[in-house]
Amino acid sequence: MKAIEIIKPGGPEVLQLVERETPEPGAGEILVRVRAAGVNRPDCLQRQGGYPPPPGASDIPGLEIAGEVMALGKGVDQFRIGDSVCGLVAGGGYAEFCLVHQTNALPLPSGFSFSEAAAIPETYFTVWHNVFQRGGLKKGETFLVHGGSSGIGTTAIQLAKAFGATVFATAGSADKCKACLELGADRAINYKTEDFVKALKDETDGAGVELILDMVGGDYIDRNFDAAAIEGRIVQIAFLNGAVAQANFSRLMLKRLTHTGSTLRARTIEFKADIASELRQHVWPLLNRRAVQPVMDTLFPLEKASAAHSRMEEGQHIGKIVLDVG
Ligand SMILES: NC(=O)c1ccc[n+]([C@@H]2O[C@H](COP(=O)([O-])OP(=O)(O)OC[C@H]3O[C@@H](n4cnc5c(N)ncnc54)[C@H](OP(=O)(O)O)[C@@H]3O)[C@@H](O)[C@H]2O)c1
Repeated sequence: MKAIEIIKPGGPEVLQLVERETPEPGAGEILVRVRAAGVNRPDCLQRQGGYPPPPGASDIPGLEIAGEVMALGKGVDQFRIGDSVCGLVAGGGYAEFCLVHQTNALPLPSGFSFSEAAAIPETYFTVWHNVFQRGGLKKGETFLVHGGSSGIGTTAIQLAKAFGATVFATAGSADKCKACLELGADRAINYKTEDFVKALKDETDGAGVELILDMVGGDYIDRNFDAAAIEGRIVQIAFLNGAVAQANFSRLMLKRLTHTGSTLRARTIEFKADIASELRQHVWPLLNRRAVQPVMDTLFPLEKASAAHSRMEEGQHIGKIVLDVG
């Protein structure tokens, strides 16, 4: 099969098209003929050498795919050959064939193309876990997502809004802020021209925000403590501006804040299966009627994976970058 390999840690040019053996499904796994694969920021980190695949995972990059089931491993009872699926994987997505555990796969939402469906798993699993399970977002609460125009951000805005929150987003340009508003954000803050802490205090009559999803870190750690409400929660999913920071922790104590975080990739199949089953129950009905949907930025052919990574690292994209595997 054709696959994209990271020939050595480095820039986008180290992604090269190679021939690999087609994998064989083990117990509980389905072999998927990949039609499209989502590109995520963690793939760029892996390419640079900073985010190695967990033990047992493929070294081929790619955390989410959509395609047709071609073969079934022992004990597979949730899918049949020929079914159209999308799925979350710990690696191996940038290839013509990919193994997915049946419990980490979901049917294509109705009317979705493979490229749209490939843009769902990584951000929907991440947002569901960090915003709803870990962050405990409830109807009527205030919610802030930093990086609102990112793959994660565009998903978080739509889901938080669909579940009844008041949604704030930060983004780095007027166009990105406009996209956040079009997705349902009640207020988008261009952090390059406005102080997001002040803007959020103004928006909440000084109360602050009840839940913050942060991928930025750095000086945002201290500023999130400032922007959070009494008993507020802050969930950390990345540190694009650095994981080492100086912060005034007295706010954590005085406001009784909860600061937590998680990563998805290294978690067990069973843990991801639990998220998949909640998504199927609570989110698939919304996708099926397009009450929420992935925001599609650019589709690149598989062999242009390096161009897809360049697009992501240039930072002009809004929503998801996807590889068309053919
Ligand atoms: N913990 C987990 O389980 C998990 C799972 C998936 C993804 N993630 C993380 O979530 C983040 C978003 O992923 P994604 O795939 O949605 O990526 P993405 O689309 O490339 O989004 C990154 C966003 O961050 C903003 N940003 C702010 N400061 C930045 C900086 N210093 N460098 C680069 N971008 C910056 C960018 O927009 P502006 O122009 O507005 O700044 C951009 O919208 C990534 O850091 C990824 O590693 C974590």
